[in-house]
Amino acid sequence: MAPKEGEKKKKMLELEEKIRSCTLCPLYKSRKNAVPGEGSLEARVMFIGEAPGRNEDLQGRPFVGAAGKLLDQLLELAGLNREEVYITNVVKCRPPNNRDPAASEKKACQPYLEKQIEIISPKLIVTLGRHSMMEILELAGHRATSIMRERGKVRKVRLFGLEVLLMPTLHPAAALYNPGTRKLLEEDFLRLKELLRTLESPGESGLERYF
Ligand code: URA
Repeated sequence: MAPKEGEKKKKMLELEEKIRSCTLCPLYKSRKNAVPGEGSLEARVMFIGEAPGRNEDLQGRPFVGAAGKLLDQLLELAGLNREEVYITNVVKCRPPNNRDPAASEKKACQPYLEKQIEIISPKLIVTLGRHSMMEILELAGHRATSIMRERGKVRKVRLFGLEVLLMPTLHPAAALYNPGTRKLLEEDFLRLKELLRTLESPGESGLERYF
């Protein structure tokens, strides 16, 4: 393992340990497991969901329930797999009964997300769902309109000092019982595939057409 890789791994393991023993907000009282996130520390793409659900809380891993299965299919559509991306959530512990996370809970968890972004330093962040989009746009100092307007759009943002591309899309859970929503998600993941190809091209030529 290259020295830099080893250092990243050490930093992430320390961070995961902190997240697993975190008591900064009341969600620690009802969690079975915290869900720090998982994937490649060299990932070009980082996916950010909202918060763990029941299955994620039981297993301590992100997106392992029905929405996760759909996410796997969408990743495949974009020519990606779980091992090469990094997947996490805005909030690392399950809110009881899957309620929306409170603003104070998101704030308590923010330094963890910041550190993850710093360690991985992705080229592109894809937010999954409205809550994650709102949170990331706000942290980047941008105003969001609506998820339907923002989905599939690519912006260049500065997030915790890192210049990164941001593409919001819908939450996979919203598509489970709605074929129309699923179609929109598929559109966005196909666009993601194209965008990743553009990022690989010499000088990232053609990137301007996304803005
Ligand atoms: N929904 C999310 O937002 N995150 C998960 O990890 C699972 C479901």
